[in-house]
Amino acid sequence: MKITVKKKNLINFDCEAAVVCHFEDGKRLSGSAALLDKRCGGLIREMIDGGDFEGKLFQTSIIYTRGLIPARRIFVVGLGKKKDFNLEKLRGVFSKAAQKIRELNLKGFATSLNFGKINQLLTSIAESVVEGVLLGTYQFTSYKTLEREKIKKLEEFVIIEDNEDSFEIIKSAAKKAEIISDAVYFARDIVSAPGNEMTPTILADKAGEIAGKKNVKLRVLDSHEMEELGMNALLGVARGSSEPPKFIILEYCGGKKGDKAIALVGKGITFDSGGISIKPSADMDKMKTDMAGGAAVMGAIKAASELKIPVNVVGLIPATENLPGGKAYKPGDILKSLSGQTIEIKNTDAEGRLILADALTFARRFKPEAIVDLATLTGACIIALGDNVIGMMGTDNKLKKKIRDAAEVTGERLWELPLWEEYHELIKSDVADLKNTGGRAGGTITAAAFLSKFIGDYPWVHLDIAGPAWLTKDKPYIPKGASGVGVRLLVQFMRSLSNV
Ligand code: BES
Ligand code: MN
Ligand code: ZN
Repeated sequence: MKITVKKKNLINFDCEAAVVCHFEDGKRLSGSAALLDKRCGGLIREMIDGGDFEGKLFQTSIIYTRGLIPARRIFVVGLGKKKDFNLEKLRGVFSKAAQKIRELNLKGFATSLNFGKINQLLTSIAESVVEGVLLGTYQFTSYKTLEREKIKKLEEFVIIEDNEDSFEIIKSAAKKAEIISDAVYFARDIVSAPGNEMTPTILADKAGEIAGKKNVKLRVLDSHEMEELGMNALLGVARGSSEPPKFIILEYCGGKKGDKAIALVGKGITFDSGGISIKPSADMDKMKTDMAGGAAVMGAIKAASELKIPVNVVGLIPATENLPGGKAYKPGDILKSLSGQTIEIKNTDAEGRLILADALTFARRFKPEAIVDLATLTGACIIALGDNVIGMMGTDNKLKKKIRDAAEVTGERLWELPLWEEYHELIKSDVADLKNTGGRAGGTITAAAFLSKFIGDYPWVHLDIAGPAWLTKDKPYIPKGASGVGVRLLVQFMRSLSNV
């Protein structure tokens, strides 16, 4: 969809639909709603006084303007109660408006960002509105070949602003939101793609699309190079599959030369069958999403480079399938990880922590400022926090705060779980240094405790995204399916390091 900002006035702008907003407890119409209402002889007022529209959050109503203004329809959207209003609601409001307008098979719509008096900054309002529209209208249709003409699609969204200063602010904010939403689309497409078409090799090709851009370098290690390095935890997981594993290294240098990089590590299991400890077949198809952490890292680096955020970042994505096979690794096997620590395999379905162990160890070579990893790591995280919440664990309070603050801005729900030393007892092995499961109790935390053994002394945060990576129900601006969770969080985290 094309996003444009035009220096005009909504009152005399020619479009199929003009969106205006109304608070549930707003006694009078305000902002552009008031202006359009006046020009249309009180059409909106009449609807509200008649009790047909209250302004409840996400409520929408259409008014035909019959030539009173150039816009053919006024789309009135409810903002809910003033005291509950925030940018997250605004994203949802504009997503819902865009979805309804698309449902009517209209091709474009316009709005002004003049909602009357509200507390948020214009730049945040503009970013949120554009994000809401773009993220809420995402569709994954590339595998639908029949009746493609029936797929409804919006083509243009126009923001109207006649004040010179505001116009410039909105233009720049809209561009940023477009870049970020584009990166979320990139991640959602990767996660939505079926396992047969998103193998480790194809995932590495996708990373190549980002590296085509300025300032981003890509290196992909193949299994021989991994062998030479000693990444035997990753290679152990890969042994059951005939798809070759890849270790993807994306480097974006937007910061000063010599500035320490942030290491972003993302789990890249392109399909997780569980291996020899095979999963039940019900819902196993969902395990095509087990590279959502890797996809988030790739999306975040894509956005960082296009936004030119002044940071140095290295993205590491260990990528492989986890399948059973004649050569597959087995319960009871002992693997020697890149760190030198040995790992007893108790369950081949706890594969994520194995490939991450080698990736986290590799991250230390960059002497990073901080390490953040994202992984669809444990079903236990869904049991603990529900479908919508990122589980956070880590070793560094300052870093945790930055991540928590970033999540607050982007509206991605995140909650910390403890990483007390008692948990570390549970992953000690009788025969090796570590074992790869700590039992059912506290499964999310023992997985994190395992990862912590590979971090050294670097500030580190682990984000378990098993719940929110894939939605089974629509959220206001995240259609069900791949959510792209983590992309906006990481981008906001990087922006917060330099205020852009
Ligand atoms: N990829 C799964 C975790 C997962 C489960 C993500 C459901 C999204 C939805 C992971 O590799 C896994 O299988 N974890 C096991 C660990 C257990 C064997 C210790 C789990 O959660 O059951
Ligand atoms: Mn698994
Ligand atoms: Zn997995």
